[in-house]
Amino acid sequence: MISIDDCLALDAADPLAPMQAEFVSPVTGRIYLDGNSMGAMPRGAPARMTRALIDEWSVERRHAWHSADWLDAPQRIGAAFAALLGAAPDELIAVDNTTLNLHRLLHYGLDLARADARRSTIVFEREGFPTDCHVVQGAVHHGAGRWQARSIGTQDDLDAALRDDVAMVLLSHADYRTSDRWDMASVNARVHARGARVLWDLSHTAGVVPIELSACRADFAVACSYKYLSCGPGAPALAYIRRDLQNRAWPAIPGWLGHADRMNFVNDYQPALGLLSLITGTMPVLQDVVADCAAQIWSRADPGYVFAKHRSLSDTLGALLREQCAEFGVEQVSPAAHDRQGGHIAFRCPGAGATCEALLADGVVGSFRQPDVIRFGLAPLTVSHADLWHAVSRLRGILRDERWREPRFQQVSV
Ligand SMILES: Cc1ncc(COP(=O)(O)O)c(C=O)c1O
Repeated sequence: MISIDDCLALDAADPLAPMQAEFVSPVTGRIYLDGNSMGAMPRGAPARMTRALIDEWSVERRHAWHSADWLDAPQRIGAAFAALLGAAPDELIAVDNTTLNLHRLLHYGLDLARADARRSTIVFEREGFPTDCHVVQGAVHHGAGRWQARSIGTQDDLDAALRDDVAMVLLSHADYRTSDRWDMASVNARVHARGARVLWDLSHTAGVVPIELSACRADFAVACSYKYLSCGPGAPALAYIRRDLQNRAWPAIPGWLGHADRMNFVNDYQPALGLLSLITGTMPVLQDVVADCAAQIWSRADPGYVFAKHRSLSDTLGALLREQCAEFGVEQVSPAAHDRQGGHIAFRCPGAGATCEALLADGVVGSFRQPDVIRFGLAPLTVSHADLWHAVSRLRGILRDERWREPRFQQVSV
């Protein structure tokens, strides 16, 4: 049986433990296990935001584009995450949101495939996150018959779907419900062997598990930055294009700040080199300022420690759920093997929605997903082993006393 002392010993030996203080701590007694929905706020964010409002906007006004480096924030934030995602600094940029980046990179890939008339199909996961499906459906809708979609239901369906007509494949690296993760290197090789390209949605893996975008020759990827990466609500999302695929097509949304000669106000469009062409117009400076705070913390976090901590948290949670809650019907849904997991651990339990509400009332913030799973997000920079021990003990109490059956927990809010 794993005791609280075992967990405290693991935390005492954790090389990332000092970084926890760089984020705002939860109010006393609360345990946030929803890094997969919204990451913790960097402690320096309010002061940095005040500086941006007072010193930069109020005093510097438009000079702050350069004096405060507002203009370069998309590249600077992207580069700060390069080591974590196994990419080169010039292969990542932080712009807009995940959905927009999925849209623009899918269209970029389709543009590269356009010359080959046989390639007309986009493969996607029909049970994937809704926005991934919508982006593919949008491409088909606006493609005037040029593109069609082929959906797959499980990972086992991929090879049969990879016929010679495939132009692009869009996959979520880890499933948003079960956390089941694709083997990225193997998929890239299989898709490339059929002459197609892959766009990865890293929303549930970036900042938690090893990703080697360059080494496994990923073509395109996007990552949500307000989850594990703690860049803040509405933060710019990351977009990745492998270096040899850059400068090969126009961006899907050309705009003046993505122009090759952006400050000379040239009306004939010429894309800027590299990922700068993904910038459209004026960037969300105040969002960038907050995202920058998180990016600077991440650029000091050793990725090896981050991934090791996630493995340790995952093993600890799996064991605690088995030891303390299996007798009440709790069963882990996420794969136990580290190389098959994304960032969160999902488990089935009696009355999952109501149980999630009862956990919230007890100070444990997880998330419920239909039909019957609770997800605990294991953010390596902010979650401790002791947090998991306390969370699972509270879960055990709720299940043992059947408190989740109380009428006040039957209205499910998440
Ligand atoms: C897998 C996945 N992709 C995309 C998104 C949407 O991201 P955004 O709101 O930044 O477009 C989410 C949000 O939860 C997600 O889980």
